[in-house]
Amino acid sequence: MGGGRARVAASILNADLANLARDVRRVVKAGADRIHLDIMDGHFVPNLTFGAKTVKALRGVTDVPFDAHLMISEPSRYVAGFLDAGCDSVTIHVEVDEPIEPTLRAIRAAGRAAGLCVRPATPLTALEPYRELLDIVMIMTVEPGFGGQTFMRDAARKILPARSLLAHKPVGGEIHVDGGVNRETAEYAGGLGADILVVGSALFTKGHDMGREVRLIRALADEGYQYQLNDGKPPIPRDNWVTFTRLPREIARRFADEIEAGAIPVLLLRGEGEMNPDGVRDYDLMVPATAEALTIERHGAAREARLAEAAAWRERVRAAGSPGA
Ligand code: DX5
Ligand code: ZN
Repeated sequence: MGGGRARVAASILNADLANLARDVRRVVKAGADRIHLDIMDGHFVPNLTFGAKTVKALRGVTDVPFDAHLMISEPSRYVAGFLDAGCDSVTIHVEVDEPIEPTLRAIRAAGRAAGLCVRPATPLTALEPYRELLDIVMIMTVEPGFGGQTFMRDAARKILPARSLLAHKPVGGEIHVDGGVNRETAEYAGGLGADILVVGSALFTKGHDMGREVRLIRALADEGYQYQLNDGKPPIPRDNWVTFTRLPREIARRFADEIEAGAIPVLLLRGEGEMNPDGVRDYDLMVPATAEALTIERHGAAREARLAEAAAWRERVRAAGSPGA
């Protein structure tokens, strides 16, 4: 898993279809963070690829996340198969001619990430009615249907405003950019805030060192983010967690619930901090580094109140000589 902010999802559309399992292993060994599965029905797009059975067969090859990209006209009919096949996320197209909400709800009910994808000509406003049901927004930067096409910069401009559609998910919401992503276009996509860069032909081109392409594309995307969106500061690595505060166990648990109610994940770890009169050290209450500023904004004042409550509790217990005081 790469250290920076951007992630690379390898599309296997241009892999050797006679050796899909081998090529999945190759891209994972080369450092791809995810596998992007392009499912086409020959109707929604003028191409036909593979179905849930193939995905299920590949699920045993690696444990990196599987992102299914359903370019099919009736996702409601087939979504269960992809959930059963072990996909970690399922993204459908907003342009399909059937109800969308039930399918998004079914994906989420299965505990997976639900996404909506827009073709280059489709405006972001088409996603508005579904915003609360979204974990992923996928921006097509080519006309869906084939790999190896040229990146459309105009379509990519939707990447930045798409973030607002995920405002309900301060952590874990993802903007995917799909189509024509390579070392020439990664910095542009990263500079618009893309989280997941889907890369197909750039990885499977003969003579290309796959590992080098993955590292380059990730680094270029982070460079774009650093100078276009982050005032020249390197992006916070996605996997970093920071200690928001340290509190006695019970107070920490209550505070963690409060913070998690706002969709900010919390890790509670027994810390090295103060030993309390009940014989248990303070707990570290940790949040993703990418959500630290938001947590301070929302819970900074409450943090002071909790720390005061903890000090009062310690006083009381010491005075009474028993933890229940
Ligand atoms: C196209 C697919 C893309 C494609 C990406 O319809 O959705 O995922 O495979 O491949 P490249 O990177 O070659 O455009
Ligand atoms: Zn795709």
